[in-house]
Amino acid sequence: MSEILKALKERRSVRAYKSKSVPKDLLNIIIDAANNAPSGMNSQPWRFVIVEDDTLRKKLVDTAIPNAKKLLEPLKESDPERYELIMKRYKDLDDPVYYSAPAVIFVVGKGKYAALSCPLACQNMMLAAHSLGLGSCWVAFGAMVTDNDEIRQALELGDDEDIFGPIIIGYPEGATEPPEKRPPEVKWI
Ligand SMILES: Cc1cc2nc3c(=O)[nH]c(=O)nc-3n(C[C@H](O)[C@H](O)[C@H](O)COP(=O)(O)O)c2cc1C
Repeated sequence: MSEILKALKERRSVRAYKSKSVPKDLLNIIIDAANNAPSGMNSQPWRFVIVEDDTLRKKLVDTAIPNAKKLLEPLKESDPERYELIMKRYKDLDDPVYYSAPAVIFVVGKGKYAALSCPLACQNMMLAAHSLGLGSCWVAFGAMVTDNDEIRQALELGDDEDIFGPIIIGYPEGATEPPEKRPPEVKWI
């Protein structure tokens, strides 16, 4: 199997990390991989904010948690099993949003091509991280921080910009069990 196919099969969403920080040169390789993603009209409608600062991290977690819990509320009825699993994480973990990963990368997108192009940059980041022996996860709940002005200022988030990801990156603590995947639904004509 080619290296890329192997990476596509073996990449997992990692939710437990060692505290060891990720060297800057590796983060730069990951950003470069993101920047090489395809984008509508080659617009590259993204910029990247890498958060390593502990004080900002705490602010992000404290802002995201109540917003995430509010959003998860309907799950209590529709999928109680998943709701309980997620709530257990919220109880057990110091940081149930960014899983204490040493790097959180906000992909900030702007313009009409951002919604389709920025997720490709995110996927490139996750695959690049995997190829470097790092774990990653797209944590959409971690983007629920835009109601906090201090965070908006720190990210220099404009009114015309949206957050994609963020993607958390770090050295995995232990192995991640692959989740079950349905076989693809395909129609051949
Ligand atoms: C758009 C998007 C948002 C996600 N948000 C979260 C999140 O907030 N928290 C989390 O733990 N995982 C999040 N994930 C990871 C998914 O749960 C994960 O991709 C899925 O369970 C399949 O696992 P795999 O990535 O290992 O194949 C997100 C993934 C995507 C693509």
